[in-house]
Amino acid sequence: MDEAQAMDRALGLAWRGWGRVHPNPLVGAVLLRDGRVVGEGFHAEFGGPHAEAAALSTAGEAARGATAVVTLEPCAHVGKQPPCADALIAAGVRRVVYAIADPNPLASGGADRLRASGIDVEHGVGAERAEMQNAAFLHRFRGAGRPYVALKLATSIDARIADSEGRSRWISGPEARDYVHWLRAGFDAIGVGGRTAAVDDASLTVRGAVEPRVAPARVIFDRSLQLSPTSVLARTARDHRTIVFASPDRVQLGKALTALGVELEPAEDLAAALGALEHLGIGSLLVEGGGRLAAALLDAGAVDRLHWIQSPLLLGETGIPAFAGLASTPLASVERWTVVERRALGADSLLVLDREPCSPES
Ligand SMILES: NC(=O)c1ccc[n+]([C@@H]2O[C@H](COP(=O)([O-])OP(=O)(O)OC[C@H]3O[C@@H](n4cnc5c(N)ncnc54)[C@H](OP(=O)(O)O)[C@@H]3O)[C@@H](O)[C@H]2O)c1
Repeated sequence: MDEAQAMDRALGLAWRGWGRVHPNPLVGAVLLRDGRVVGEGFHAEFGGPHAEAAALSTAGEAARGATAVVTLEPCAHVGKQPPCADALIAAGVRRVVYAIADPNPLASGGADRLRASGIDVEHGVGAERAEMQNAAFLHRFRGAGRPYVALKLATSIDARIADSEGRSRWISGPEARDYVHWLRAGFDAIGVGGRTAAVDDASLTVRGAVEPRVAPARVIFDRSLQLSPTSVLARTARDHRTIVFASPDRVQLGKALTALGVELEPAEDLAAALGALEHLGIGSLLVEGGGRLAAALLDAGAVDRLHWIQSPLLLGETGIPAFAGLASTPLASVERWTVVERRALGADSLLVLDREPCSPES
């Protein structure tokens, strides 16, 4: 196995921490000696051993003289765990290859420490995929003033998210629904528009293979405050954090909701709501529709990633549009999104697109 292949493997291992490590980054590590894997590991649990420590412990003495291939720059600070750079030095690793630098000022500096002790250090291998994998973590250090926002929509071929009666269960198949539950597990919060909350009356909880370390909060963008106190969301607000944003002039109408444990927040517009979410400790938000909220977020430039699930059916002109009211853009000045993943989910097709292309640091 060469170093690029080892990075593939390390990136694959890192995904196993999804839902369990955030707000820490996903990290995987592989130890190579003479082209053979002598150890591997990943950051499995927030507060638990880092990927490098996990890999070193599986390698034992075989780590001496090995190359460590890691998806993120080894850390240099004492947090809940000792510095990984020191552990790699102590284990006698000869060379370290990492994908992207650690933007966290508290943890960075590991590469310099490794170099200072005579270890050969290279970075940039697999950088685009590592950036894609840790997009929400990297976003935190960019000072955007809002959470990382991903938008997930399941649509027909003709970009409808529901039929003309508003029914959307089920446009997509079971594999796509499993994917959505997996996706939810890695976010701090799941958001929907007020209309979707009213029509679907869904619980917006995670019910898949990955049990999130912290259950995501539910966020409803509900300007006119239509959420009923008898809705599933309101009735379960004491079990699952539930935040509702409404126009400042509507908030006083929500006493029945707050009595049920709903956090009711005034917001003039979407930008104000997103800014408030960051202050409420929500660093990443998965918005699941509907179409009017999706278009408003896109028009505000507030969507970082789009998870588009397209199902093989047509709902026709009176179906609910996926991007209702989206501002028109002339083709000459249109922004092109970057495809970061494309695969089949049963009979459905998944396309994951980033607004900003991944920009590996150099
Ligand atoms: N297939 C899927 O993936 C999927 C996902 C979700 C929903 N759905 C379906 O989509 C339908 C609902 O979608 P929809 O497009 O009618 O409604 P929607 O996007 O769910 O709801 C729009 C809501 O967002 C609020 N909002 C807050 N800030 C806004 C802003 N700046 N701009 C626009 N709206 C803002 C609106 O407030 P106001 O009250 O002031 O207008 C309204 O309550 C349902 O039938 C549901 O089943 C399908």
